Amino acid sequence: MKRLLLDLPDEAATTALGAALGRVLAQTAVVYLQGELGAGKSTLARGLLRELGITGAIRSPTYTLLERYPLGDSGAEAWHLDLYRINDVGELEFLGLDALDALWLVEWPERGTGALPAPDLIVQVSVHGGGRRAELDATTDAACQWLRQLACDPACVPFMNIDRNNPLQPSDS
Ligand SMILES: Nc1ncnc2c1ncn2[C@@H]1O[C@H](COP(=O)(O)OP(=O)(O)OP(=O)(O)O)[C@@H](O)[C@H]1O
Ligand SMILES: [Mg+2]
Repeated sequence: MKRLLLDLPDEAATTALGAALGRVLAQTAVVYLQGELGAGKSTLARGLLRELGITGAIRSPTYTLLERYPLGDSGAEAWHLDLYRINDVGELEFLGLDALDALWLVEWPERGTGALPAPDLIVQVSVHGGGRRAELDATTDAACQWLRQLACDPACVPFMNIDRNNPLQPSDS
């Protein structure tokens, strides 16, 4: 499944989608979180990180650019980035973004072009009525499998947009 469209009526739904993603993603994955200011990217990332067992504060990396979280005792990490304040991709050098073996959650990835690994999954969040719409596009085989699993997750099913505009595309599965 290459594409999934969800209508998220409130913040709890965005958090629930993040948590559902946390249940299906691999520990090494690259997820781009796109959408305008205030779309809900950090809300989704927070839901995802909580699901992965992060119990402490999950701050938006608005000023720090990068927040790192250990995932269990294996040495694996989740990297949450917010590149909104980047003007030139060279500004990212000091972050040493070379540990490819991480779970990357990248807000404003378009500002880090050239310094980021290619995405497995692109999540586009947009304001839609009083809530949000999330479009999930898989760009790797692994991510297609994650979307198939997501589509079966009871926490996601109520939000799935099945027959408007860009429906689920079972033919792509
Ligand atoms: N599905 C939803 N319906 C309504 N409001 C939502 C929904 N999801 C998140 N929000 C609200 O959107 C607001 C902004 O969320 P958030 O900080 O996650 O946005 P962001 O995309 O990370 O913004 P930025 O680009 O500034 O980092 C929050 O007040 C949050 O409660
Ligand atoms: Mg944010």
